[in-house]
Amino acid sequence: MLKYAIIGFGGLGKLQLGNLLALDEERGDIKLVALCGADPSAFTSNVKINLGTVDISKVDFSNLSFYEDYRELIEKEKPDFIISTLPTYLHEEVATYAMDRGVHVFSEKPMALSPESCDRMMESAKKNNAKLMIGHALRFDPAFLKLKEYIDDGAFGRPLRAEFSRYSATPTWTWNNWILDPKLSGGCAIDMHVHDVDLAHWLFGVPDCLRSVSTSNKNELESIFTQYFYDGLFVTTAADWAMFGSFPFEARVIINFERATAVIKDGKLTVYTSDETIVPLVSETSCYMNEMRAFVEWVADDKECQNISLESVRQSMDIAFSEIESAKNDQPIYYEEE
Ligand SMILES: NC(=O)c1ccc[n+]([C@@H]2O[C@H](COP(=O)([O-])OP(=O)(O)OC[C@H]3O[C@@H](n4cnc5c(N)ncnc54)[C@H](O)[C@@H]3O)[C@@H](O)[C@H]2O)c1
Repeated sequence: MLKYAIIGFGGLGKLQLGNLLALDEERGDIKLVALCGADPSAFTSNVKINLGTVDISKVDFSNLSFYEDYRELIEKEKPDFIISTLPTYLHEEVATYAMDRGVHVFSEKPMALSPESCDRMMESAKKNNAKLMIGHALRFDPAFLKLKEYIDDGAFGRPLRAEFSRYSATPTWTWNNWILDPKLSGGCAIDMHVHDVDLAHWLFGVPDCLRSVSTSNKNELESIFTQYFYDGLFVTTAADWAMFGSFPFEARVIINFERATAVIKDGKLTVYTSDETIVPLVSETSCYMNEMRAFVEWVADDKECQNISLESVRQSMDIAFSEIESAKNDQPIYYEEE
């Protein structure tokens, strides 16, 4: 039986709890033993995030231990793996602490807040022979997997233009509002936007050149708009979490191929051709469940997931950091040919 813990039990930790308990039940060879958070009064309460309310009211917490200190949890419980859903400024510290003690780690996106911090996480995984997966859930989303299949097999010809957008009201739900301090979260430009940076990189590779701009009305790095230039392909991304009032979260991707337009909106893929509108049949399992399953199968069954390598995520982070540099210096960034 492999033991594990969730460290950082806020929005994402609670969202993943249901998926993990379902995997425990289904497999019978993994077991959640402990939870760790900084605010014990919030351990068993529901939480509202931009995707809606996460309801944990039916969870039986009676066999779980609670900790406020992740070091104490790791020393006492000796988990085989941890799910780290902590604020971003703690990702490196906790992942390396755990891996140095032989514990495998699933760590939420974004990987970390600087290139050096990302590198130290990679070095620790290598040195300790530990399994480290970064939570880029959208690489496990059935709609995006189908879209990638269309791009890779050329079903509708070459992609010519793509547009990624992600908008949210100012996030107000995190512990001590850590997310609004760019030094702790990277701002929208790293935190929320990294989803689209990683998707664009996963789908199309490293661009030849990029150019970004950012706004700072309420907070620094509250938005970022980027153009990526590829040979024969033009990609734009827009991310803004400074929307006012009760503006509802929205994320959309449009790709114009030579022979079709594909759109993913609210998680649903639609393809428009000259003759028909296609809504491809894809699995309805959530991307979060799929990524948890992939990580657990890697740790417990040694079945490595080919869809997400640390090197590829690290490269996505480089692109995200370059965007900030481009926006700050008002300059394009050029990449050498791979
Ligand atoms: N994959 C996704 O779609 C997605 C969506 C939202 C957030 N995230 C990422 O998940 C991570 C967590 O975000 P969140 O929205 O859940 O934040 P949150 O503030 O809701 O939760 C963070 C949790 O960490 C705990 N914590 C803080 N300091 C701690 C410490 N020193 N030791 C132990 N626990 C501590 C807090 O008590 C809280 O329970 C972030 O990196 C964020 O970018 C990913």
